[in-house]
Amino acid sequence: MIMILAFTALMGQQPAEATVELDFEFFRSQVQPIFLERKSGFTRCVVCHAEGGRVGFLEEMERGATEWDEEQSRANFEAVSRLVVPGDPLASRLLMHPLEPDAGGDEFHNGGRQFSSQEDPWFQTLAAWVNGETAGQ
Ligand code: HEC
Repeated sequence: MIMILAFTALMGQQPAEATVELDFEFFRSQVQPIFLERKSGFTRCVVCHAEGGRVGFLEEMERGATEWDEEQSRANFEAVSRLVVPGDPLASRLLMHPLEPDAGGDEFHNGGRQFSSQEDPWFQTLAAWVNGETAGQ
C-alpha cells in the first residue's frame, strides 16, 4: 500500500496532467470494447466490474445486449475517468492495476494480470485515451 502511494505521489508531479481532456467518443469506440472483449485465459473485465460488484465501475448491461447504450456509456465514462490521471497513464489505476508487476504494474489484481507489458494493445489504447487522444484522430 505504501508503495502504491509513494508511486502515485511521484507520478503526480508530472506537469502534463492539467491540460489533457479525456475524449468521450474515443472512450466509447475504443476503450469500452476492451471491457467486453475476450482474451484467452482471462475473464472479461465486464464480468467482474459491472455495477453491483464490489468494484463496479461499469454499468450493468441489459439482458441480451452486446454493448452499452448512450446513457450507460456516459455513466461508464464518468466512473472510469475517476480511475485515471489525465495525461499520465503510468499514474492511472486503470492501467497499472491489471499490468504485470514485472512490466511496472502495482501489486495485486484479483482479475489477473491482463496486460503482459506496456506494449500490450489494450494497454496502448487505454494510454492513448488517458493522453487525450480523440476519436477523430
Ligand atoms: C475475475 C474478476 C476480475 C476481472 C476479470 C477483472 N477484474 Fe479488475 N478487479 C477485480 C477485483 C475483485 C478488484 C478489487 C480487488 C483488487 O484490487 O484486486 C479489481 C480491481 C480493479 C481495479 C481497481 C479499481 C479501484 O477502484 O481501485 C481496476 C482499475 C481494475 N480492476 C481493472 C480491470 C480491467 C481493466 C480488467 C479487464 C482487462 C479487469 N479489471 C478484469 C476483479 C476482476
